[in-house]
Amino acid sequence: MMDFIDLKEQQKLIRKNVDKRIAKVLNHGQYIQGPEINELENELSLFSQSKFVLCCSSGTDALVLGLIALGLRPNEGVIVPSFTFASTAEAVCMLGGVPFFSDVKLDTYNICDESIINSINKAKKIGINLKGIITVGLFGQPSDMDRIKEIATLNNLWVFDDAAQSFGAKYKDKISGNLCKISATSFFPAKPLGCYGDGGALFTNEEDLYKIAYSSHLHGMGNNKYEYDRIGMNGRMDTIQAAILLEKLTIFNSELLKRDEIAKQYIERFQTLNTNIELPKILENTNSSWAQFTIKLPPFCDRQKFQSLMREKNIPTAIYYPIPIHCQSPYKNFPLSPGNLDNTMKLSNSVISLPMHPYLSQKNVDFISNTVDKIIRNLI
Ligand SMILES: Cc1ncc(COP(=O)(O)O)c(C=O)c1O
Repeated sequence: MMDFIDLKEQQKLIRKNVDKRIAKVLNHGQYIQGPEINELENELSLFSQSKFVLCCSSGTDALVLGLIALGLRPNEGVIVPSFTFASTAEAVCMLGGVPFFSDVKLDTYNICDESIINSINKAKKIGINLKGIITVGLFGQPSDMDRIKEIATLNNLWVFDDAAQSFGAKYKDKISGNLCKISATSFFPAKPLGCYGDGGALFTNEEDLYKIAYSSHLHGMGNNKYEYDRIGMNGRMDTIQAAILLEKLTIFNSELLKRDEIAKQYIERFQTLNTNIELPKILENTNSSWAQFTIKLPPFCDRQKFQSLMREKNIPTAIYYPIPIHCQSPYKNFPLSPGNLDNTMKLSNSVISLPMHPYLSQKNVDFISNTVDKIIRNLI
């Protein structure tokens, strides 16, 4: 079976230096809060142009820490897309907040401005005290941040970007991670920038937010050890993961370019074949980090059968996400934007992601595209 995400090829390139970096950590022995943490924070700050970066234990914890920094209180509402990974809504619930599920756009898969406005109006009617909006750069493309920030400003809401999938992508020449008040990312191994375990980071240009998040990720520590200013958590990143990320960051830019080339090859191939699928749409002045290459299958195509025919040709596929968050039992009772999240429902029934990583050969892109085309034409 071909790899869906090939981490082995990447490792071959960086293994020697990763080994050296890990050996350095083993030699100095500062497994927790070692010097690599600070070094990585500085590098990520340079990369993202975000003034303050906090490395932490996971993307989920970065979301929780960001919400703590923003001062989210129990029963306060946060607009989130339902077509996302659980963490986006889960982080709100962990603090006792109320996720207000909004719809996404059919073409970009990202949160829809009209749905946000509908949610704001409904929240007023049903008495939910909305505080902010969490955007998600789904599959790697940042949300239309200018439009969303405009709505947020008008309604006195903050914007928090869940850039777990889109870190490194660009929106109008700004890097995802630095598109709004505060952003979170994940370094889960399969992410465009991943470590070899769990890890995440929080980005902001506001020192006061950074300081609260910093203290909170050390159990709420104050100026002295064992003195606490607030109730926090253990949200630290391991030094070894920081060491690995420092090495991975050296090839991240070139990998982003390769991902973009591969996405273009897929798009060109499908357009030449005139395959009856919908391709991902990237907004003007925006690029994607292509965490996933996700297409929409036509309504007549049985997705399960499609997946099994692909598997027979040794091509793995994945469905992100088959069940929207608002339809899952723990989240069923939270409010929804009017319109019942029609687009989210349609997407969860029709999307499918194809192999995507920087080391995918043109030959394999052709093979995958031709196989998709043949299955849809009923030729396989
Ligand atoms: C959109 C989104 N948000 C948050 C997360 C959570 O990241 P982590 O797995 O590092 O906690 C993920 C990771 O899968 C994600 O895709």
